[in-house]
Amino acid sequence: MRHFLVAVLVAAGFQAAAQGSNPLTARQDKVSLTFALNASGQPTYSVSYGAKTVLKPSRLGIALVDGNGFDGALEVTGSEVQDVDDTWQPVWGEVKNIRNHYQQLTVHLRQPAPTGRRLDVVFRVFADGVGFRYEFPTQPSLTYLVVKAENTEFNLPADHKAFWIPGDYDSNEYAYTTSRLSAVNTTPIEPIQLKAPPTRVQTPLMLKSDDGLYVNIHEAALVNYPAMMLNVDTKTYGLTSQLVPDAVGNMAYLQAPEHTPWRTVVVADNAPAVLASKLILNLNEPSKIKDTSWIKPQKFVGVWWEMQVGSASWSYADTASIKLAGTNWNALKPNGRHGANTANVKRYIDFAAQHHIAGVLVEGWNVGWEDWVNNWKEDVFDFVTPYPDFAVDELQRYAANKGVKIIMHHETSGSATNYERRQPAAYRFMQEHGYDAVKTGYVGKIIPRGEHHDGQWMVNHYLRTAQLTADAHIMVDMHESVRPTGLQRTYPNWLACEAARGNEFNAFSDGNPPEHETILPFTRLMGGPMDYTPGIFKLQGYAADAPKRQVHTTLAKQLALYVTLYSPLQMAADLPENYNQHLDAFQFIEDVPVDWDDTRILAAEPGDYLTIARKAKGKEEWYLGSITDENARQQPVKLDFLTPGQRYEAIVYADGKGADWQKNPAAYQITRKVVTSRSSLTLKLAPGGGAAVSFKPVAR
Ligand code: NOJ
Ligand code: CA
Repeated sequence: MRHFLVAVLVAAGFQAAAQGSNPLTARQDKVSLTFALNASGQPTYSVSYGAKTVLKPSRLGIALVDGNGFDGALEVTGSEVQDVDDTWQPVWGEVKNIRNHYQQLTVHLRQPAPTGRRLDVVFRVFADGVGFRYEFPTQPSLTYLVVKAENTEFNLPADHKAFWIPGDYDSNEYAYTTSRLSAVNTTPIEPIQLKAPPTRVQTPLMLKSDDGLYVNIHEAALVNYPAMMLNVDTKTYGLTSQLVPDAVGNMAYLQAPEHTPWRTVVVADNAPAVLASKLILNLNEPSKIKDTSWIKPQKFVGVWWEMQVGSASWSYADTASIKLAGTNWNALKPNGRHGANTANVKRYIDFAAQHHIAGVLVEGWNVGWEDWVNNWKEDVFDFVTPYPDFAVDELQRYAANKGVKIIMHHETSGSATNYERRQPAAYRFMQEHGYDAVKTGYVGKIIPRGEHHDGQWMVNHYLRTAQLTADAHIMVDMHESVRPTGLQRTYPNWLACEAARGNEFNAFSDGNPPEHETILPFTRLMGGPMDYTPGIFKLQGYAADAPKRQVHTTLAKQLALYVTLYSPLQMAADLPENYNQHLDAFQFIEDVPVDWDDTRILAAEPGDYLTIARKAKGKEEWYLGSITDENARQQPVKLDFLTPGQRYEAIVYADGKGADWQKNPAAYQITRKVVTSRSSLTLKLAPGGGAAVSFKPVAR
């Protein structure tokens, strides 16, 4: 790691700023930040990009339950500026090297006498935005803090276009609405589980100004604190932080020295630069895991989609039968539909082995599913008892012989307390039976009662789980967790989260609109990888109870998603029999890597289209994904990212003649040609369509 401290300037005793007359500044390229006290002595900050205003003066403040917080007038007692420029390598990711280049401004604040409690605000200004956080230093008059509210404002200068989902304390599983800030109204959207004001939205929030600025607001390194959502003032376009409360209405319990997560504002004058931003990762701590050799980005298949579409069940028996059998699992009467049975799992293992897919997920392998959801039952699963038809040892041997790993599944049914009690035994069971990755889930209301999925208690639970799994050399994929904030840098075994509306919604609901996947990278994925579960090939007529239901993309677009939705963990979500109908197209899924040395965002506009090219880790191969919303498009692509002088075979998996997500989603065509860095392609994307391209070197 290269680490230059270019300059450290210390400006102590900055009393003049306390009068609001002497603002403090930090900048990097076009981004500049100003800190000042307002006329009432309250701290504010503002951000600009060149001559354009990103944020007007916006208040900072933290209210404490003891009534003596930092939400009123404060004095500035000093400040420091520091320049940092270093480069680091992620364990896995979209690029090999990440530059961390910022100017830091630390402002020391104090309550007026006689209380004199102290608070620091630390700003980091990058070429692509700003991060800042509150820090509570060690001090005699403040050891234990109970946060009542965080009053951070993000005052936008105009009525920007916003891409938003409601600020639900328990779920991110919504389709996005695109509207002006003045028109944000979440009222008709269900299910918001808490009585929400109609103007509370989730982060990452993507905004676009009429004068061409792209602004993304989120947070980095969410540790020991609740998630931040945003209340929108539809008249002034001011956003205010809304923390997720705990069961009794407090926001956070802290002990000094402590700090909040970073509040992040990414800004650029073009959409691709937002997607290329590494600001959130840079604000996270380096890996806590020293030996990372066991962490393996991977693709997987699994016993999963068949349950999502209703043709198999997670449970082995029906609920009535379990009531009769009690805990004598062998007395259960099989329902005949159980997906994770030994023979079926072997079928997936065979398919994975044939196609070089590393993992096989086995949802429904363990007892408890007869009574798992929405009952607020504390002790649903024990995570170590298989159903009678799931032969643990036999499957362990079978998978090992074929060079495939079985991926464990721990649905907690929202009972985080039960899971915590059983985690040590559950991870021991995994180690003894050859599992090195687990998908967890938190469906339903959280136990302990009253806690939210996104509150401080659960945020700490997810982190403990990342740490505990790391200790046991287990990779983890969390569903129904809080949305990510770049912590995959610190815990690289935490490969992915769901925390958004995944492809599964196409299985059991009205689905995801064709624009959905063009928005996700600008919103949810800004914080980290998503287990979206792409790769559905049978796009119509798959749902047992709804014959008209269909996936809202073409088949070629499903392929493109492996490139456009970055994740080190990608499922090939459809059934082997559906892949076997289209093995020529499946070749792209088999080939596409999940770890990269380089990434180029070639074209992007949230809600409309996205084209990305990525270079495989350690190989001279490139892969490209291009997707569109409901509109057909032609996407020209210059191949100047390829190595000059090298010839490549390009295999283009494109929408076929007459393809259309609604009327003809499965039409695709595969063409091959030899190209160089001087070639170009024109990709024809059907309505709801896409294209995927692999580039492999060929001899001269
Ligand atoms: C919801 C998850 O998103 C899904 O992937 C999983 O199959 C079910 N919960 C059951 O755990
Ligand atoms: Ca659109």
